[in-house]
This record gives sequence, C-alpha cells and structure tokens, in this order.
Amino acid sequence: MRVLVSGGAGYIGSHTVVSLVEAGHDVVVVDDFSNAKPTVVGRLESLTGTHVPVHAFDLKDADKTAQLFSMEEIDAVIHFAGYKAVGESVEKPLEYYRNNLDSTMSLLEAMRRHDVKKLVFSSSATVYGEEAPVPYEEGWRHLESTNPYGRTKAMIETILTDVAAATDGMKVALLRYFNPVGAHPSGTIGEDPQGIPNNLMPFIAQVAVGRRSHLNVFGDDYPTADGTCERDYLHVMDLAEGHVAALEHLEKMDEACRPFNLGTGTGTSVLAMLKAFEKAVGRELPYEIAPRRAGDLTAFWADPTRAEAELGWRATRTIEDMCADTWRWQSENPHGYPDGSAPVA
Ligand code: WQD
Repeated sequence: MRVLVSGGAGYIGSHTVVSLVEAGHDVVVVDDFSNAKPTVVGRLESLTGTHVPVHAFDLKDADKTAQLFSMEEIDAVIHFAGYKAVGESVEKPLEYYRNNLDSTMSLLEAMRRHDVKKLVFSSSATVYGEEAPVPYEEGWRHLESTNPYGRTKAMIETILTDVAAATDGMKVALLRYFNPVGAHPSGTIGEDPQGIPNNLMPFIAQVAVGRRSHLNVFGDDYPTADGTCERDYLHVMDLAEGHVAALEHLEKMDEACRPFNLGTGTGTSVLAMLKAFEKAVGRELPYEIAPRRAGDLTAFWADPTRAEAELGWRATRTIEDMCADTWRWQSENPHGYPDGSAPVA
C-alpha cells in the first residue's frame, strides 16, 4: 500500500517508515518539522535504499492537506503528527487542543474527499487515566486522562470512532502506546528530543554521553519493589512493527474503529532501567534521588493480549536491547541529528 505517514520525520514516525518499507509498502511523509530535524530524511533514505517523498507543512492548513491528497496517490494513513509533551500541555492547553485536534480533522476531511478509508492512529496509554486497573485493558471505558495532552488523544479517539461509524467501509486502529524507547539497531536514527529531555531513557542516554551531569530519579518512596516508578517500556522497533501489523489487519477488522494496546505487559522500575543502561555502557552512571514529579503514577503496564490475538503482534525485544540500541544511537550521535535542510518530495 502507499501510506501517508504524518509526523514521519519524528521519533516513532521515522522508525515506522523503515518498517513499512521493509514490509514492502510505499511511504510518503508529511511533517512540519516543529519537533524533528530535516536531516533524518537522508538517514531514512540511506536505511531504506529508497526515495522518501517529504511534504513539509502544517496539517492544520486544510488546503495544503487537501492538495497533498490530490498530488499523491494515498491508500492509507498512519497519523503520528501532534504535540506530545505532557508538562507543556498543562502550560499550553489551547495550543495542544488547536494543534492536535485541527490537524486530525484536516486530515480526515482530505481523506473523505479522496475516499481514503484506512487509518492507524498514534494514541497513548495516557488515555487510561489514574483509575484504570493495572494491567490496562482496552475495554476500560472511563478514559479520564489527567493532562491536556492525554485528553487530546482521548478526544481524537472519540472523533475517529464517530467518523468511522459514519463512513461506510472505513477502518481505524487506535494504537495505545506504553513507553516507547530505544533506537534502530543501525544507530543512525533514534530519539532526539529538543532541549532538556522530559522522558527517562533519553535523559539517561544524555548523562551517559556527557551532556547531563546526572540523572534525577523523581522519587524513591513509591510502593514498589525498589521504591521507584514502574513503566511498560517498549522498543521503538517493536512499536514500528506493531503499526505495520495494524495497517495490514485493517481490512480484516470487523469493527470500524478499535483500540489496541502496544506494550510488553511487564513493568520495569526507574532504577532497574538505569542499571540496565549502565550494563550497556559498561560503567556506573551518576544519579540523585529528587522529589516526586507531579502527575506521575506509581506503576502501570499493558495487557497486550488483544494485539497478539488479533494483530499477530507481540513485543520481542528486551530491556537490554532497548538500552544497547539507545546507547549505540546516542554514542554515535552525541548531539542528535545535525542541522540541515530536508530534501523535498
Ligand atoms: C518514566 C519514569 C518518571 C525522567 C510519558 C508520557 C506519556 C508517553 C510516554 C506520549 C517516571 C521517571 C523520568 C527523569 C525520572 N508520552 N523519570 N527522571 O511519564 O511514564 O510517560 O512518556 O505518549 O504520555 O506521560 O514517561 O519517561 O517521562 O517517565 O525519574 O529525568 O521515569 O518519574 O516514573 P512517563 P517518562
């Protein structure tokens, strides 16, 4: 299939581009490069051995989005594009609602105009909120995220559910990610957060490569085995392959719109992840115990059985793989992607 990947120059989008090409699909990328470096495109073309057409504009521009579907033959869409920093969403809720919702509706209007009826959406375990029993199951109905970012994801899930129900033959998979980490084993693409990383793995990697003095462990007084929070970390290549599995499952799906957890089903603590990274680097890494971070939940992980039963997908890479692949990327790219200009479509 010819797949439009929105946000395809981003962390998860770029890894999914590689898996899509490996699975024999053609890819077109649209990205506004607000949270991605253009030089990733050249890396993708080297990795895939193919030209990756890139359209650089903001999906909130409905006219440009409609033009894109006129210019490019699109069979399906994987929609990653959106703002995704939880803390920032608390400070700038209006920007998050405007950007994440408008870009999605602009995309849906163009899809309708061009009769494109296959969509895979990048959702998040954040939609479950803090009341959901662990492991999180897709049947949990009370989606009450605790932050505007998560609420945009839950709202978009609702929009997609309603639009799919009203559009004959439309099929949508809502992929609820747990904690994506890691990098392509080549070491040429990986996570490259701008500024100070919010998330654990890139922060540890930047400590290891000397960009940060130490890791702050946000609390060691939680009711867990070692006192630090536990999360379901998932290798980004497993996640990318999950998107291909979902895309290829759509035509067989009975429901018009269906959520799937993409996680391992196992929790790992902050300190356990730090120790695993130290093993990958071959030396101890400095850390300090810091106060708890507001909004952090103690522990959650996925019930991954639906994705395995229906998509034929399960995570196969280990915490050690996640750390080794992250370290290869970070040590070979200490400052992330170089600046530069993107080749155009
Ligand atoms: C993991 C654990 C921190 C940094 C977030 C978003 C979620 C999703 C994934 C988009 C927590 C601890 C972290 C640090 C630390 N993103 N930590 N020191 O918060 O589970 O999920 O990213 O979909 O929506 O909420 O991931 O990596 O930020 O934190 O101790 O410097 O690591 O307290 O316990 P989180 P995270």
